[in-house]
Amino acid sequence: MIRRLGLISTLALATALGGCAAMPGLGSRSDTAAVSAAALAPVDYVRDIHSFARPEIARVRHVALDLTADFATKTLSGTAALDITAEPGADEIVLDVRNLDIQDVRDAAGAPLQYETGSVDPILGQPLTVRFPAFAPGEQRRIVIRYATRPDAAALQWLTPAQTAGGRQPYMFSQGQAVLTRTWVPTQDSPGIRQTWDARIVAPSDLKVVMSAEGLTASGEPAGPGMTAWRFRMTNPVPPYLIAIAVGDVAFAAIDERTGVWSEPSMLAGARAELVSTAQMVDVAERLYGPYRWGRYDILVLPPSFPFGGMENPRLTFATPTIIAGDQSLVSLVAHELAHSWSGNLVTNATWADFWLNEGFTVYFENRIMEALYGQERALMLQSLGWGDLQSTLADLPPADTRLKLDLTGRDPDDGLTDVAYEKGAAFLRTIERTVGRERFDVWLKGYFERNAFRPMTTELFLEDIRTDLVAGDAALESQLMMDAWIYQPGMPSNWQPPVSNAFVPVDAAARGFFADKRPASTIPWAGWSTQERQRFLAWRPEGRTGTADWLTDAQLADLEATLNLRQEGNAELVFAWLQIAVQHRFQPAVPTLEHFLTTMGRRKFVLPLFTSLWAEGDWGRSIATPLYARARPGYHPVTTGSVDAVVGRP
Ligand code: BES
Ligand code: ZN
Repeated sequence: MIRRLGLISTLALATALGGCAAMPGLGSRSDTAAVSAAALAPVDYVRDIHSFARPEIARVRHVALDLTADFATKTLSGTAALDITAEPGADEIVLDVRNLDIQDVRDAAGAPLQYETGSVDPILGQPLTVRFPAFAPGEQRRIVIRYATRPDAAALQWLTPAQTAGGRQPYMFSQGQAVLTRTWVPTQDSPGIRQTWDARIVAPSDLKVVMSAEGLTASGEPAGPGMTAWRFRMTNPVPPYLIAIAVGDVAFAAIDERTGVWSEPSMLAGARAELVSTAQMVDVAERLYGPYRWGRYDILVLPPSFPFGGMENPRLTFATPTIIAGDQSLVSLVAHELAHSWSGNLVTNATWADFWLNEGFTVYFENRIMEALYGQERALMLQSLGWGDLQSTLADLPPADTRLKLDLTGRDPDDGLTDVAYEKGAAFLRTIERTVGRERFDVWLKGYFERNAFRPMTTELFLEDIRTDLVAGDAALESQLMMDAWIYQPGMPSNWQPPVSNAFVPVDAAARGFFADKRPASTIPWAGWSTQERQRFLAWRPEGRTGTADWLTDAQLADLEATLNLRQEGNAELVFAWLQIAVQHRFQPAVPTLEHFLTTMGRRKFVLPLFTSLWAEGDWGRSIATPLYARARPGYHPVTTGSVDAVVGRP
């Protein structure tokens, strides 16, 4: 396929997306008379079934927010000014909105514009179509939308003071990925439509505002009685899911000159100590795959209701406090979110069906950072834990959902958030690495990030890139790699070689000894084990175990709980792994630990599986789950309640 000067042609993209060159919405121009010019233009946007936008007609280039955070009404209100380019003659733009109160839409001179919202889809929200006089060639225009969010905006969580560590100030934060930014910013909310942005946010003066952008006001500016304004700008074009905000009583501690930690003041020292390796991680990442392109890299440690482990918001990763284990044992999460600064934020999945391009590349890169900093054995343990997770996922999912390229037609993009994208994606890249050798693979991968920086990437364009720049016509290599099988077929192709961790050999032996051969827990060399070895031990399950049949007695569970001191365990990954075993055995003595865990953090990766396990245990589990969920739910983010409601029901 055609590629010149390192730019992928719009034509190539149209063909890659199924040969429909006539399909509008591909590339930066639709002027087919100017084919040769179009062929040189970089990929500028991609059509996406999870967005109502029609960027081939009119496209948002820049978003300027001017919003006030009101904790009494739990709303953000103000204006979003959108800079738009459009095809000559275009007289409307379609945006994505969900659950917003639109007050009016005006042009740059303040004259009202006509607009209309379409019917509501529960996941995608509504199209907001704004009409204006026809565009002239080359014109750029601004429209200004006056609006307010609703208290139940799915991206936002408004916390009461009691839900924070400090207990005295409220807190608010956003989570945009995958399709939630449209619940607080009216724009074209597709990962294939990049936009620069800036913001002025007004908030109560005893709080600070941080965003995934450069801060322009170190200490805020007065904005009326008791209110302070904070300004930000993001000059790199980003997909809208990466626009993020947090407002709360937060403070900053530097790690080195370009990295640091934000958190509530009472947690700051602990968070900084835990995350101090971040500075070296950025150095290591740059040595692997080229310059960090975003300026600062800071981490915001959120209150415990943050629904994810981490979120790669540019310049400011958002992280769950459950990674603060006290011994830096869970910092691979930082390596992961940092790696997204290349895989995801620089080269971005064009649609959610290409999600593996974000997460699979990131898990691969994350593990390379961990290997460089902590050695090959730690990296292999992490790979091996990932492979264990992937094996259970492959056993549980319908085969069609175990392909890397997903079919999400009519589905929530969240359905694609499985270990397939993460671990099968990384396994695929490790297979390529093993086949061509690390040196060659690294050259290609570094080039891939450079060639495609600030562009959307489809699975088909990835294939084109790697075939052009790595395979380069070598037919033997092409067949050895089995790339089409990895991407378009279910399960693991025959060239997959699972990781082998020597450190796990004695762990597996101890697990078999305790779990299968019924030896006492005192035979487990727990004290000498790292967190990863402990995770491996607790993830052990009898071969071919299905359903919920008990495989341990209450006496064994009590022995395990007491000997490993699991009631006092502070590492969230280990508590979670233990509680999964306990719930699956209806082990009543662990219920207080379970109740405490589920009412003190809201990370979906822990909350959803535990409620799902409870539900699977019939009356025993359901009689615990129902009142517990009623108690815990008000503390959870909409992302978490949205998933758990589907299991337990809405209390
Ligand atoms: N970008 C993801 C989180 C995400 C994915 C949010 C899809 C919404 C939709 C983030 O990078 C991530 O993968 N987080 C993981 C941690 C990671 C170490 C695997 C998580 O939150 O558990
Ligand atoms: Zn990720």
